[in-house]
Amino acid sequence: MKIEDINAVVTGASSGLGEGTARLLKEKGANVFLIDLNEEGLKKVSSDINAEYFVGDVSSSELMTNAVKNLENINCLVNCAGIAAGAKVVSSRGVHDLNLFEKVLNVNLIGSFNMLRLCAEKMQSNAPNEDGERGIIINTSSVAAFDGQIGQAAYSASKGGIVGMTLPIARELANHGIRVNTIAPGLFGTPMLSGMSEEVQQSLIATTLFPKRLGTSKEYALLVESIITNLMLNGETIRLDGSVRLAPR
Ligand SMILES: NC(=O)c1ccc[n+]([C@@H]2O[C@H](COP(=O)([O-])OP(=O)(O)OC[C@H]3O[C@@H](n4cnc5c(N)ncnc54)[C@H](O)[C@@H]3O)[C@@H](O)[C@H]2O)c1
Repeated sequence: MKIEDINAVVTGASSGLGEGTARLLKEKGANVFLIDLNEEGLKKVSSDINAEYFVGDVSSSELMTNAVKNLENINCLVNCAGIAAGAKVVSSRGVHDLNLFEKVLNVNLIGSFNMLRLCAEKMQSNAPNEDGERGIIINTSSVAAFDGQIGQAAYSASKGGIVGMTLPIARELANHGIRVNTIAPGLFGTPMLSGMSEEVQQSLIATTLFPKRLGTSKEYALLVESIITNLMLNGETIRLDGSVRLAPR
């Protein structure tokens, strides 16, 4: 699909990778609709790039049904909303909080699926373009889906779930001309990571092959652009990570 033909819903759009994606797609001529929990952040991005927005939790069926119901011609979804949480299964602080495990699964996995199902339903009624395409869905997993660290049980499970659903959904939606792909980022310099101490960040960067630095939101957004415009990419999870392999801790 050509970027100028894109009407995209971008979640997690008030910060980090989602914000970078919304800004790049808009700059390249797409229409974007922003969704996030953080109203302040959304207001800023929305006024900078002149895009509409909706404040709400991506895992809420009711809220997200309302968010997308009046959107015309959605042909792209970029799922970036997500949370990170670290906790050991059993530690001196006690056993892993089950509510925390559920929350991470709920936002990262169920939230992504919720947006995907609602946007796919809309995409199905789009007129196909000259390639027979009606839509493109891009999810955000993590390298933690493959080499998760100690303390990442919930996060890795949520991101592994996104990898697992990519191919079956791509197979199902292929009949409608809708492609489904997932990006598994390594270490990116967003508020999610900058919350960690400098020491932890440096030890993570040390496990990256090249380049030895954090990725930028622009680099993530450039892969989104590439997936949108390259019709042959379908049903795939792509690591975008400078070849980092996370150590056990
Ligand atoms: N930064 C990294 O190194 C990295 C690495 C791998 C994967 N990821 C994934 O990339 C995605 C984007 O992360 P980021 O680094 O930009 O983090 P970020 O914290 O900067 O952005 C995440 C955004 O999601 C929003 N959000 C959180 N829960 C939400 C909910 N329930 N409903 C709606 N919005 C919600 C937050 O308000 C925030 O604006 C996440 O899914 C994250 O797991 C990030």
